[in-house]
Amino acid sequence: MKEQLDAIKNGAEAELESAGSLADIEELRLKYLGKKGELTSVLRGMGGVAPEERPLVGQMANDVRGFIESGIIAAKDRLQKKERLMRMESDMIDVTVPGKKPRLGSRHTLSIVFDEFTECFIGMGYEIAEGPEIEHDYYNFQALNFPLGHPSRDVQDTFYITDSILLRTHTSPVQVRVMENRKPPIRIICPGRVYRSDEVDATHSPVFHQVEGLVVDKGVTMGDLAGTLKMFAQRIFGESTDIRLRPHYFPFTEPSAEVDVTCWVCKGKGCRTCKQEGWVELLGAGMVNPWVLQNCGIDPEIYSGFAFGIGIDRVALCKFGIDDMRLFFENDVRFLSQF
Ligand code: PHE
Repeated sequence: MKEQLDAIKNGAEAELESAGSLADIEELRLKYLGKKGELTSVLRGMGGVAPEERPLVGQMANDVRGFIESGIIAAKDRLQKKERLMRMESDMIDVTVPGKKPRLGSRHTLSIVFDEFTECFIGMGYEIAEGPEIEHDYYNFQALNFPLGHPSRDVQDTFYITDSILLRTHTSPVQVRVMENRKPPIRIICPGRVYRSDEVDATHSPVFHQVEGLVVDKGVTMGDLAGTLKMFAQRIFGESTDIRLRPHYFPFTEPSAEVDVTCWVCKGKGCRTCKQEGWVELLGAGMVNPWVLQNCGIDPEIYSGFAFGIGIDRVALCKFGIDDMRLFFENDVRFLSQF
């Protein structure tokens, strides 16, 4: 019996040592210690052992069980460690492998012009203001002195959502929103998207872009407006650029002007871009109508202001030599990535 126990012990030791997986170990546990296992069946034969030897053999059997049990624990431990090592190896990150470069986009042509314009005004101390593209008739028209049914609305025919809600036709409603909420001195610009029901062609789009400007303070004059716009034009189109103000009509400015800049292509000599004029029309501007100031809660006896609205799209067309406005909206990467 003693020899049998020794054989079991040695066999188990050797087999556990070569076990390659947790499943192998479980199999060995059943083989030796299970109900029908080898050790169990030896113990069943204890009846045939002389009574005086029984305690000794029993002790030996227990020792062998203990030996196998701790062997199993050690083998499991060894396998788990090995597995962990293998996992760590397979998870290892090779920091020397070259990275995958994300494809970088480029700024949209219109954003480039927007940024150039806003940076110029920020440099002159302006802040950026925003307003909704879906606007109330009140802000888009009435508060800007376009009464209901007034013919001056016709030049800005637009998309109505209800009778009183529409897609803004210009960025000027932001003037009203700012003046309602702030006290002078006010110095803001508002870059944004505007809508008019124009037919789509190479030079017209029902969606286009403006930068609105508004200054309200004590003693602001038309001279400040002209000086500001001239400085802006020179910064954007070059030192030799001049501006010219032509009388015009806007209900919310008085007096009003359309402002041209020296053609930046031919420097005023006359070319295709300026239709031989030497000048390119760039924006509408004027002194804020006292009625509008009053309506926004600003006393026109104390304060005065000027406003301007610059069209962005035409500048972008000319600046980049693009001949069709539709390209701005098609978002073809081959087009956009050129700038
Ligand atoms: N909102 C006017 C337009 O879109 C432009 C403008 C803005 C004129 C500010 C005067 C002052 O035609």
